[in-house]
Amino acid sequence: DGDVYKYYSEGEWRKAVSGKSVAIINPTTRKTQYRVQACSQEEVNKAMEIAKSAQKIWAKTPLWKRAELLHKAAAILKEHKAPIAECLVKEIAKPAKDAVTEVVRSGDLVSYTAEEGVRILGEGKFLVSDSFPGNERSKYCLTSKIPLGVILAIPPFNYPVNLAVSKIAPALIAGNSIVLKPPTQGAVSALHMVHCFHLAGFPKGVISCVTGKGSEIGDFLTMHPGVNCISFTGGDTGVAISKKAGMIPLQMELGGKDACIVLEDADLDLVAANIVKGGFSYSGQRCTAVKVVLAMESIADTLVEKVNAKVAKLTVGPPEDDCDITPVVSESSANFIEGLVMDAKQKGATFCQEYRREGNLIWPLLLDNVRPDMRIAWEEPFGPVLPVLRINSVEEGIHHCNASNFGLQGCVFTRDINKAILISDAMETGTVQINSAPARGPDHFPFQGLKDSGIGSQGITNSINMMTKIKSTVINLP
Ligand code: G3P
Repeated sequence: DGDVYKYYSEGEWRKAVSGKSVAIINPTTRKTQYRVQACSQEEVNKAMEIAKSAQKIWAKTPLWKRAELLHKAAAILKEHKAPIAECLVKEIAKPAKDAVTEVVRSGDLVSYTAEEGVRILGEGKFLVSDSFPGNERSKYCLTSKIPLGVILAIPPFNYPVNLAVSKIAPALIAGNSIVLKPPTQGAVSALHMVHCFHLAGFPKGVISCVTGKGSEIGDFLTMHPGVNCISFTGGDTGVAISKKAGMIPLQMELGGKDACIVLEDADLDLVAANIVKGGFSYSGQRCTAVKVVLAMESIADTLVEKVNAKVAKLTVGPPEDDCDITPVVSESSANFIEGLVMDAKQKGATFCQEYRREGNLIWPLLLDNVRPDMRIAWEEPFGPVLPVLRINSVEEGIHHCNASNFGLQGCVFTRDINKAILISDAMETGTVQINSAPARGPDHFPFQGLKDSGIGSQGITNSINMMTKIKSTVINLP
């Protein structure tokens, strides 16, 4: 059946026995673009089983060989950037150039992970006992890093390739096997990416990719006794997963409300450029997007004017034309964004542009004079709508930032580095960027959220480490 993309299990492309499929709606046309298999729980069981047995052999494959295969997969991925990028354009309406960038970045991430892996996994520790009181030098302890087993990877729609490989590559280099559950919007891009790993020649069962309805296989996967670690990026579902998951390590990244604090002495042209890039790239559908601007009242008028001048230059339209602003991922997402806009309107926010929507396409909108009683001051639209709150002191800005239930990233703009450091220390977020918009990359930097923004830390090195466990062997001398 050429119309339904097959899922990947036991080293083969398969059809769901039930014959059921899930539709992927093109956000631009709002018509079905692709279909993927709706795997059943039995099919998930099968993928889990083979992942478990394949992992035992994979863990014994020499580290340099595992690295070699990853390098190969990275090269194949880059060679296939055009067809994969095309899927990203059709499935998630990512602007054409950004779609290519996502694939290239993913190839680089896989290669870097292979290199980092051979370094950090190639080293263990040697400890001696007589440093602890009461001990003679009679015990030698050797430690190394061992894999956890089967890693369940669940990436979100906004980076279905990149946030999949950021989980797959560290898992594999460390000797784990992977079961990937891609987001429905983005599933075909993810299947193409998995095909690159297939072509690289990974042993059967080391990677599986199951597609299907969250309602049918979502909980079944995350609560599956065969899963030894979950790496999830997404929204609220992550909170539910954390509550239901067993006693296994969790790596969670669940969104943010990244604040941009602007002081009086900031370079306002730099700030405006970063607000527009940070707030509106991929139409605001990034967990690290600038989601609230906290500007000192004295410079707010000038800043808003500069931002508006740049917003006016953003192109709006289909992702195929590489427009800056493209349709948001789904109708329900567009409705949610509209709900936030209407709430702000009713409560008296200043609309810097006219609110305009056609289908899932929402024109970029800056909302000035937003107050804390408006939903948009706290909730993440995940769309091209950005609120500006005017503040009268730095403390007010820090207070707003810290009152959020999120704590992913934040940024502060000032020419005074001492002030910037103090503000960074005071902001309860996993990362603070000084004089730039929030961003996850470069991909080897640690990436983590506080509070509802997540559990654990990502970034290549941290992901490799979290997908391993320390094993000690103690030699007791006579
Ligand atoms: O929304 C996912 C998050 O990881 C953002 O990544 O590269 O856009 O900062 P990036």
